[in-house]
Amino acid sequence: MRPRRVLPALLAGAVIAAAVLAQPARPATAQAAGEEAPPLPDVSWSFEGPFGTFDRAALQRGFQIYTEICSACHSMNLVTYDDLAGPSGLGYTEAEVKAIAAQKQIADIDKNGQPIQRPARPSDHFVAPFPNESAARTANNGAVPPDLSDMIKARDGGARYVYGILTGFRDAPKGVEMRSGMNYNLYFPGHQIAMPQPLQDNSVQYADGTKATLDQEAHDVVTFLTWAADPTTEERKRTGAKVILFLLAMTGVLYGAKRRVWSDIEH
Ligand code: HEC
Repeated sequence: MRPRRVLPALLAGAVIAAAVLAQPARPATAQAAGEEAPPLPDVSWSFEGPFGTFDRAALQRGFQIYTEICSACHSMNLVTYDDLAGPSGLGYTEAEVKAIAAQKQIADIDKNGQPIQRPARPSDHFVAPFPNESAARTANNGAVPPDLSDMIKARDGGARYVYGILTGFRDAPKGVEMRSGMNYNLYFPGHQIAMPQPLQDNSVQYADGTKATLDQEAHDVVTFLTWAADPTTEERKRTGAKVILFLLAMTGVLYGAKRRVWSDIEH
């Protein structure tokens, strides 16, 4: 290839690579056994795309929803209170995180080997609502509320699916027979879910004064759960952007060098 053709080719390559990276994830559809689930709601998120970031205010509101509502049934065993502070955290200071942890009691063993309850410390994992699976099952009509730490990654459709579940409760259509204790949900495979609808308008009073509509609450808690499933995603995207900039700059430098080296020979 003649040198003059190299730069346009490289630039075209870079443009194509950028376009591919910027492509939003294709909305996935949940497929129920034999029963069609409607396409997942098309929600947009600040954290999507190669340069997406988490909205700190939404993260804190989502954490409030988890704390006040979901944590009554769902554990998040992979997350520590410490994770809430620092640059990949939710924007809380260390002192705030200490206070947040201290509101929870955790089972421990004291110096003499006696079981005790003590306030949680920042290094503790989120305190779970039930001591074990059978206690969780008993309290929930025989169904176990799954751990939410990496729920967003564990389900096809990710954030859109969980948002769909939280906003997809409806009265069962005529002719659909519901099993006892089950609730009709548009997006849950088979449509019968053991979880009662957890969010309604005004389920919480937001600390930052945001109006607590069902839609807002679902959006915020899904933002929080997405962060929890991958707290370092922002850092990786920043590194990725720097690497691409570096490669583009290097391409220019090398092209310049090549032209100088070859200029005498070619003319
Ligand atoms: C009263 C207890 C309770 C509360 C409160 C609750 N859940 Fe659940 N949740 C459950 C149970 C039980 C299941 C298991 C349902 C099943 O398998 O049929 C479940 C399942 C789920 C699932 C999994 C659906 C799937 O595909 O398997 C998600 C996601 C979820 N809950 C999110 C939440 C969020 C977010 C909140 C807070 C806004 C919340 N839940 C509040 C009891 C609860």
